Amino acid sequence: MPKIIIANWKMAPPSLQEAKKLFGETAKIKNLNDTEIVVAAPFIYLELLINLSKKSKIKLAAQDVLWENPPVGGGAYTGEISPNMLKNLGVEYVIIGHSERRQNLKETDEMINKKIIASVKAGLKVILCVGEPKRNSIKQAKNYIKKQLEKDLKGIPNNYKLKTNQLIIAYEPVWAISTNKNAKPDTPENALQMTKFIKNFLKPKTYNLKPKVIYGGSVSSKNIEGFLRHEEIEGALVGGASLTSDFVKIIKIAQKYS
Ligand code: PGA
Repeated sequence: MPKIIIANWKMAPPSLQEAKKLFGETAKIKNLNDTEIVVAAPFIYLELLINLSKKSKIKLAAQDVLWENPPVGGGAYTGEISPNMLKNLGVEYVIIGHSERRQNLKETDEMINKKIIASVKAGLKVILCVGEPKRNSIKQAKNYIKKQLEKDLKGIPNNYKLKTNQLIIAYEPVWAISTNKNAKPDTPENALQMTKFIKNFLKPKTYNLKPKVIYGGSVSSKNIEGFLRHEEIEGALVGGASLTSDFVKIIKIAQKYS
C-alpha cells in the first residue's frame, strides 16, 4: 500500500526564501514510487509553493481553515481563510484539529466538525488529527479518541458524501509530540494498536468510513521504519524533522514500504 508522508512545517520557516529552499530539497527526490508527499505550509507561502509544485509530484496542504465558506463579498471573519479560497488557489489538503490548535488556540470539537464539513463541501481533502493528551491506560486512550471521533465527525458521512481518500486520520499521541515539554517516545506497537482501533471504530455502518490512518507522534529517520513497516500505519505526519535534511531520509524509508 502506498504510504503518505505529510510535512507539517507549523509556523516555520521564517522567510519566503527559506520556504522555497526547503521545498526545493524535497522536490529533488526522485523515484517516489507511489509514496505521496504533502507539504503543510503556512498560508502565506502556499501560492508560491503551488507554483513550484507543478514541476514535482508534491502536494500542498494548509494547516488550518475557517469553518465556513462565506458568500462572495460576505464573511465578517477578519484574518481568516475559507475552504473555497484554498481550493481556488490549488491547495489539495487541509490539516484540521491539530493538538496545538486544540490546546493553545482553544479549538473545540464543534469548531473542528464545522471545519471538516465546510472543507469537504469545498472539495478539499481533510487530515483530521486526534490523540489523547495524556497516557494513563490504553483503555482510557481509546475512549478519549472514540469521543473525539464521534464529535469531530458528527453528521459525516450521512449528510455529506466523501470522495475516496477525502479523509485521513492522523493519530497523534499528544504526550509524544516533540514540542511537548515532557514528551516521551511512543512505540510502534502502541501506534499500531491505536491505528487498528480507529479503523475498526470507523468501519461499521454508522460511519462506513475507511480513511487512511497515519501516525502523527514524533518521528525521525531513526524511528520511522518501526511504524511504517506495519501495513495498517499508512504514513506519517512529520513535524520538526520535516524542517531538516532528515526529511529526505524519512521519504526514502517510506519509499521502501510503498
Ligand atoms: P513532531 O510533531 O514530529 O515535531 O513531534 C508532530 C506534529 O505535531 O505533527
